[in-house]
Amino acid sequence: MTATLITNIGELTTNAGSSEDRFGTMIDAAVLIERDRIAWTGATADAPDADEIVDAAGRAVIPGFVDSHSHIIFGGDRAAEFEARMAGQSYAAGGIRSTVAATRAATDEELRTRVRGMVDEMLAQGTTTIEIKSGYGLDVAAEERLVRLAAEVTSEVTFLGAHVVPAEYAGRADEYVDLVTGEMLDACAPHAKWIDVFCETGAFTVEQSRRVLEAGIARGLMPRVHASQLGPGEGVRLAIELGAASVDHGTYLTAPDMEALAASSTVLTLLPGVEFSTRQPYPDARHLIDSGVTVALACDTNPGSSFTSSMPFCIAVAVRDMGMTPAEAIWAATAGGARALRRDDVGVLAPGKRADLVLLDAPTRVHLAYRPGVPLVRQVWKDGVAIR
Ligand code: NIG
Ligand code: FE
Repeated sequence: MTATLITNIGELTTNAGSSEDRFGTMIDAAVLIERDRIAWTGATADAPDADEIVDAAGRAVIPGFVDSHSHIIFGGDRAAEFEARMAGQSYAAGGIRSTVAATRAATDEELRTRVRGMVDEMLAQGTTTIEIKSGYGLDVAAEERLVRLAAEVTSEVTFLGAHVVPAEYAGRADEYVDLVTGEMLDACAPHAKWIDVFCETGAFTVEQSRRVLEAGIARGLMPRVHASQLGPGEGVRLAIELGAASVDHGTYLTAPDMEALAASSTVLTLLPGVEFSTRQPYPDARHLIDSGVTVALACDTNPGSSFTSSMPFCIAVAVRDMGMTPAEAIWAATAGGARALRRDDVGVLAPGKRADLVLLDAPTRVHLAYRPGVPLVRQVWKDGVAIR
């Protein structure tokens, strides 16, 4: 069996620490990879022998990023909408419909090329686990196509037929929900693991969202929810009530939302790229964490509200503008993302976990926030394979 030893790691973040150090930081460490798994972690001085040795030369290693929220399967882009927004226009959910038109017009091959290109772009930036949502098809065949093509590149596929009411159902939102919870769900459920809904003014009401999520749950999908992105609403509490793995955005949380989150097992996934690209206020992650809320970080890569695919960028913003420490932000982007996907095999570097690792061109993880915009990802292993 071929074993690879990464040795002389200046700072190894395992996320497998004690209660005093939940980040599990080890200095002058080594990691042994066997096949697709971590076989051993410990001090370089105690490292076992291996067929291949990679000398980290004092650099830092962290778990691969777990990006638990993306919309990377779509046609076209919305650079003009972004430009107009930077000139003063505000973001509204309706922009989704222009991407729906471009996505419906794209061929399978165009969508495949696009989504594979996005996955490669993310891998190159250290993201080794990616959740992908449908939601730019919004008719039965188009949504089925999106979940099917997404399933070619990830096991974390989310059916988001309830992204927005498509133009042809304008004024008939409840009829569209009938379609989503009926024929569309039948076509998409075989390719998906998760059911999601955009519970927001301009998208779906809390009653409609409940119908969508309950129908998905009845088909064996697990719930996750977009809520409180554009204003306060009842989506966060609906997500908690239905036992969602994660509720995402939370730009406009109320005090009862925060209390309910802190008392629940639902992760709050914050998406700093959205506030950045839509000029909205950043949520106070410091206060949320101090209140006992479990916070994950994700990119929400999509052509409208956040067209970054960079977890290091999101980490830098979360530290600079949301009050997270670098260690908390990296935990949220790795182990936190894994919790948001109910995964225990990724986001942590310990024996038996997947060998998904990132070698940074930096001595410590702090540099990810300290050197924003600098490409610090030197090498990435996914399932034990060095992919760059
Ligand atoms: O997560 N909130 C809804 N969906 C996306 C935005 C999609 C778009 O604008 O195209 C989001 O921000
Ligand atoms: Fe989203």
